[in-house]
Amino acid sequence: MLVAGAILTSGGDDTAGGDRAQAHAPLGSPAPLDPTAEAASDDDVRGIPLREEDLDDPTDADETDGVDEADEFCTSEVTDAIATGDPEAVVVAAGGGEAFRDGVVAGRASRCIALNHPAWDWVVVNKQRPVEPIDYAPDVIAPATYSPIGAHLDPAAAAALDAMVDAARDAGAGDIGLESGYRSYDTQTDSYNAQVGLRGSIAEADLTSARPGYSEHQLGLAADLVACDGASCGTMYEFGASPQGAWVADNAWRYGWIVRYEAHTTGTTGYEAEPWHLRYVGVELATAYAEGGYDTYEEFWELPAAPEY
Ligand code: DAL
Ligand code: ZN
Repeated sequence: MLVAGAILTSGGDDTAGGDRAQAHAPLGSPAPLDPTAEAASDDDVRGIPLREEDLDDPTDADETDGVDEADEFCTSEVTDAIATGDPEAVVVAAGGGEAFRDGVVAGRASRCIALNHPAWDWVVVNKQRPVEPIDYAPDVIAPATYSPIGAHLDPAAAAALDAMVDAARDAGAGDIGLESGYRSYDTQTDSYNAQVGLRGSIAEADLTSARPGYSEHQLGLAADLVACDGASCGTMYEFGASPQGAWVADNAWRYGWIVRYEAHTTGTTGYEAEPWHLRYVGVELATAYAEGGYDTYEEFWELPAAPEY
C-alpha cells in the first residue's frame, strides 16, 4: 500500500534543473521559444542540436518506383516548422496527428523526426528508452493551476494544464491541483529511493516509480493531478475515483494530454495504473491517440512493450 504524499515528501518538484544536470548536460538546456527570434538553424532544435545518430542518413532514403518516400514526409513545410521549434506546427505541417503518427511508424519520417529527442512533445520515454541525455533539464514555468508545492512544467504543458483545469471547473467537475510536475534527475532519484523504502523492494518500487533518468517528469511534460476543493486537495491515489478524475479520463485529450498508465497495461508499460499521471503530447497527437483508441503510448508508436529495464 502506498503512503499518500510519498513522492512529495521524497523531493517533489524541482524547478532549478538540478546541479547535476546543469553541470553535465552535453547538449545544454533548451532555449525558451521566442516567436520574434530568427528561425533556428537546421541543426538546432529548441536550443538542442539535432543529433545525427538519431536521424537517418539522407543517402539511405527508400526509393520505391522512383518515389522518395522519406521526402514525402520531410517536406519543406515540415522542415520549416521544425526550424520554428513549435511541435504542434510540425505535426500540423505533416498533415495532423494521425498522418504524423503514420509517417513515423512507417519509417518515412526518420530523416527529420526522432522519438528520443527530449525537447519535442512527442518524445517517448519508458523503461527501455531513457531520457537522452540522461541528465536533461528543460526550462520550466509555474502554471496558474494551484499546486500545493509550487510544481513547474514545460511552458506549453503549463498552458495546456491551465486550459484543462479551467474547462473541468466550468463543466462542473470540480477543482484540480498539480501535485507534481517537473522533477530533475536528482529529485527522481530521491522519489525512487523513497518508493523502494516504502514498498520494501526494488521490484515493487519499479511498479510505481521510474528510476532516475527514465521518468517523463524529467521532461517537464508529465503532471500528477489531485482533486481539490479550493486549496484542500486529496491524494493522487484518490484522483481516479473522483469526479475530476472521471472528467480528465474522458476529456484530457482535448487539451493535449493522455493518461499515460491506464489499468491493465502493466505488461506494456511496467507500471501499475496511474490515473493521476498525465503526459502532455500536444492536441494533434492526443486527438489521434484518443480517436485511435490506444491504451498505451508504446502501442501508439508501435514500439516494443517496455515492462522491464
Ligand atoms: N510514477 C511514474 C512512473 C514516474 O515516476 O515517472
Ligand atoms: Zn507522475
